[in-house]
Amino acid sequence: MRFSRIAAALGTIRATLAQAPQDGPLPYKIEPLEPKYFKELGSQRVKISYGPINLPSGNDEASHGHFSNRNLNSKFPCGDCIITGWTPTLVFADDGKLANANNNIWLHHIGFTNLNRTDHACENNWPERMNVNGNERSTFDFTLKGTRKAGYLLRATDHIFMAIEVLNMNPAPRTVILTIEFEYLPGTPANFDIVFPVWLDVKGNCLANPLPPKGTRVFTARGPTTGWVAPWSGDLILAVPHIHDGNTRQEISLNDKIICTSVPAYGETSEFVSHKGDSHGGHDHGSSEHHYHVSSISQCENVAKIVPGNKLTIASHYDMEKHAPMKDHGGEEEAVMAIQFLHVVRPREEGIAAVMASKPGNLTAFSEQVSKNGVGAGTIVVP
Ligand SMILES: *[C@@H]1O[C@H](CO)[C@@H](O)[C@H](O)[C@H]1NC(C)=O
Ligand SMILES: *[C@@H]1O[C@H](CO)[C@@H](O)[C@H](O)[C@H]1NC(C)=O
Repeated sequence: MRFSRIAAALGTIRATLAQAPQDGPLPYKIEPLEPKYFKELGSQRVKISYGPINLPSGNDEASHGHFSNRNLNSKFPCGDCIITGWTPTLVFADDGKLANANNNIWLHHIGFTNLNRTDHACENNWPERMNVNGNERSTFDFTLKGTRKAGYLLRATDHIFMAIEVLNMNPAPRTVILTIEFEYLPGTPANFDIVFPVWLDVKGNCLANPLPPKGTRVFTARGPTTGWVAPWSGDLILAVPHIHDGNTRQEISLNDKIICTSVPAYGETSEFVSHKGDSHGGHDHGSSEHHYHVSSISQCENVAKIVPGNKLTIASHYDMEKHAPMKDHGGEEEAVMAIQFLHVVRPREEGIAAVMASKPGNLTAFSEQVSKNGVGAGTIVVP
């Protein structure tokens, strides 16, 4: 099967035709790790290393150091299992050291979409957008540190569309490896409830609404007041944000009352601090002007019980005077993002039944909207 003009993966990800040859499966390696939670129930933890990923030079005319890979059937740690958590990072291929802003390397985006299911927020029958992560490298832990028996039910033949974007701002090409630690339990263990991911975005449920114009320095972006209306009951156990540099806080409201506020932290460790002049040439590495980038964002846990008809909305506050925005690979200020991934848990039996009944989403419809949003196009060959 061949899709033409399939835009970048998760509705917001940039890609160009020139990058299409980088799409498809990446080599991978799987290493077992010590599980963190529910070991007594047989949980497993693995690190999957995807790559090597060869990043072009930041001075390369065509790519500006930008690498993108989209794979419609990505290697996941298990099938017929419950994924209870995941966390990504980037390391250099040669010495295994962390690759981050201090090295002028960015994990721009990494996101998953389940092609075998239908999205819960966009009514246009899109595939199920599960999440997106960025250089903040958030941990998604559905067990809330082992206090909640919950996970994302993955079936053996589900196809997960993974989109990866990495930016190299060094003059020399670099080789990195994307590592993702996954924790999971085989099968659908007793008493584990099923996580349903809901993508709440200031651009609206189907990403059709405009953002504040580029160049706006201080603003609040609000999703539509109609929000996402819950069609079923569940527990909103975890809300994980994805925002960009410049963000000061993001709020989720239930029936117009704020129930979750996520606040980013900047430059908590030296890995998340870059220096002015480093990018695209790196000639004045010693400059004293430091740039502090988002290094973590607080998440909300055990947020609320949801019943049918409940309305969830999002508002996100940016202040570019306070926190300089990132430049994209073309050297322009990158577009703002403001998304919160709501993880709503439904009771085990009902959750399993809903997963089993779910239908594949329409990737064409999804990618058409993404193309309209002007985030580039490419060709994806289904492996
Ligand atoms: C998921 O979709 C793929 C591709 O269409 C298909 O081969 C596979 O059987 C589907 N899996 C399930 C569980 O429906
Ligand atoms: C998928 O979406 C496209 C574009 O909106 C539409 O033309 C096509 O009929 C849809 N396919 C199915 C199977 O619904």
